[in-house]
Amino acid sequence: MIGSSQPRVDAWGKVTGRARFVDDISVPGAWFGGTVRSPVAHGTILRIDLEKSFDWSRVHVVTAEELPGPNQVRMIRGDHPILAHHSVRFVSEPIALIAAPDRPTLAAALSAVDVVIRQEPAVLSIEDALRRRILLYGDDNILAEYRIETGDIEAGFAEADQVIEGCYRTGHQEHLYLETNGMIATPRSGGGVDLVGSLQCPYYIHRALVEALGLAPDAVRVRQAATGGAFGGKEDYPSVLAVHAALLALRCGNPVRMIHERSEDIRATTKRHPSRAQHRTGVRRDGTIVAAEIDLVLDGGATTTLSPVVLSRALLHATGVYRIENVSIRGRVVATHTPPNGAFRGFGAPQSLFAIERQLDRIARELSIDPVMIRKKNLLRDGDTLPSGQRLTEGVGASAVLERAVALSGYEEKRVAYRGGRADGTQRGIGLSVYLHGAGFTGAGEEKIAGKGTVRFSGDGKVEILASNVEMGQGAATVLSMIVAETLDLPIEAIRYVDPDTSIVPDSGPTVASRTTMIVGRILIDACRAMMEKLDEDRPVSGKAFLASATRYLKEVGPLSGEATYVPPAGLHWDEETYRGDAYKSYAWGADVIEVSVDRQTGQVQPIRATVVVEIGRAIHPVLATAQVTGGTLQALGFGCLEEIRMSEGKYLNDRMATYLIPTILDAPEISVSILENGGSSGPFGAKGVGELPMDGGAPALAAAIENATGLFFSTIPITPERLIEADDADRV
Ligand code: MOS
Repeated sequence: MIGSSQPRVDAWGKVTGRARFVDDISVPGAWFGGTVRSPVAHGTILRIDLEKSFDWSRVHVVTAEELPGPNQVRMIRGDHPILAHHSVRFVSEPIALIAAPDRPTLAAALSAVDVVIRQEPAVLSIEDALRRRILLYGDDNILAEYRIETGDIEAGFAEADQVIEGCYRTGHQEHLYLETNGMIATPRSGGGVDLVGSLQCPYYIHRALVEALGLAPDAVRVRQAATGGAFGGKEDYPSVLAVHAALLALRCGNPVRMIHERSEDIRATTKRHPSRAQHRTGVRRDGTIVAAEIDLVLDGGATTTLSPVVLSRALLHATGVYRIENVSIRGRVVATHTPPNGAFRGFGAPQSLFAIERQLDRIARELSIDPVMIRKKNLLRDGDTLPSGQRLTEGVGASAVLERAVALSGYEEKRVAYRGGRADGTQRGIGLSVYLHGAGFTGAGEEKIAGKGTVRFSGDGKVEILASNVEMGQGAATVLSMIVAETLDLPIEAIRYVDPDTSIVPDSGPTVASRTTMIVGRILIDACRAMMEKLDEDRPVSGKAFLASATRYLKEVGPLSGEATYVPPAGLHWDEETYRGDAYKSYAWGADVIEVSVDRQTGQVQPIRATVVVEIGRAIHPVLATAQVTGGTLQALGFGCLEEIRMSEGKYLNDRMATYLIPTILDAPEISVSILENGGSSGPFGAKGVGELPMDGGAPALAAAIENATGLFFSTIPITPERLIEADDADRV
């Protein structure tokens, strides 16, 4: 079973169209919900005027004045208002909600609301926020700050022959999942509300609804509709939309649909945090890194969302795959008057790894050392210790992935052959990156959430999986089914993954952080064992013997199920106070080699070939694991040269698919994926997380390829055609 690439358990529903995405769900008598949003980045709300010409008895309006509970959507901190009150802090901030019986009435009502705002000066960039001339959070605009220190940074720099400095920047990125954020809220006759929507984290939404509406936990039910991708974009924002839809449903007494149009989705939902990373690296003449000082700043936007956790992951990945004895890292998330940024595949690591990988290329260039050699000289090895204090005992895959990627791609020969192409025509280049990704929640996150999972033997002879982890295209339903099938020695047809519904499934945590296979898979194995132990047999039985025994149990004793709570692997510790310890249960490793062609006339960068080698412990389902790596690599290349949010006065200018460009199949290189399995992780059958890893390496490898092709060293992404032609922010090398 494990390693066998079973047909997807959700395939039939998807290919026949039977799977119901949120907008496919028909709810008789449902009204339509809409949102009045701020047109400005910062200002004081003076009045909300309802135009007299509109018949307001036909609709229901909700403002901040009339909320049943606290005006906050629960995330990490209580600073995310349900609706703006007195002031607005970002363009598109929700000010009022309207429910109408049909779409034309809703549109008319939305345009008949005049919000009178006195505009005020806004903080619109990281630099603005750090200048503190205008304060929007605390007395320094800092939403969160962490530091990691190890060794003796001064002594480290004293040992260096040379100190090399670089400053790296990455921009916003939009998730552009298949279908937009959407929620349908249905009021219950006896009070309470049922939600169904496109989402990653049923229990995050459940908790936000309970708090905001002041309802008992069992008066709120959250179900997941078929979801076509999320990438973190359905981790935080659905809590906001669910609260809005529920407020309207409870107000008007009808089911309410709130399903964003694409442009509203792009304007209103979170993005990847823009970043600025300043690196000072002390090196010996032979290329050995002896000291690293890193100052990382993320733009959090106007509210905290999940930013402290994103920052934490960014910091813990900031030195990449290198052994550095003396390290000082300072990380801050600043608040700005821009739409809140939040979770996005990789969760801070792609920003950090872009910076460290470009810095390695800069060091290589300054010391005239080959990019592969400079990396080999400094790569982490088995038993090394990360700046957090974590000792790597599970096997470090950095050198294996690098060597394989270099060999498979012909990197060394091509790099020499491509250098110095014609500057007026098309140039070719090749570049590489090496990276790691910690799977599961950071620090003691898994211990805190203590995920639970259940398996249940149902009357029709199938074993049901009850967990809150969602299928969102990545293959979770199939992989979890395979893990249960393997544990019970049953065919996959004997397993049924139950669609997440908070009234049925336990809280096994959110579907985030590359944790589903590794953490939840582990919980389900324990749940299977607990179920097998209930059977009155001398020893746990599986396969046909299990089915026979379970059927007998069902008839003679009663319902048969097994429950388990996550048990962390022994010997790992994290200290939140000192911010030190075993930051992740496991690390997966990757290396990318990217080849590009660059048209110097148009500035267009076309990735031609990507060779990606990953070490992921064990590929439960090699086809799905490969698909994760392929898709993640393409998304990372988009991040590197195509995807850009243009802003003016805090407003996104390109809020549609015609203007926010992502790679299509025509932009995709030939991507070849090679999977290494060391089997050493604490995850099920040795598996590690693979969802986010492939987001980490594409952008820096692409920038290195552009450097090889053009002699332009870019420190900022995306490297769009405009940037390439102007090359203002590139060093000529
Ligand atoms: Mo996430 S970025 O869905 O951990």
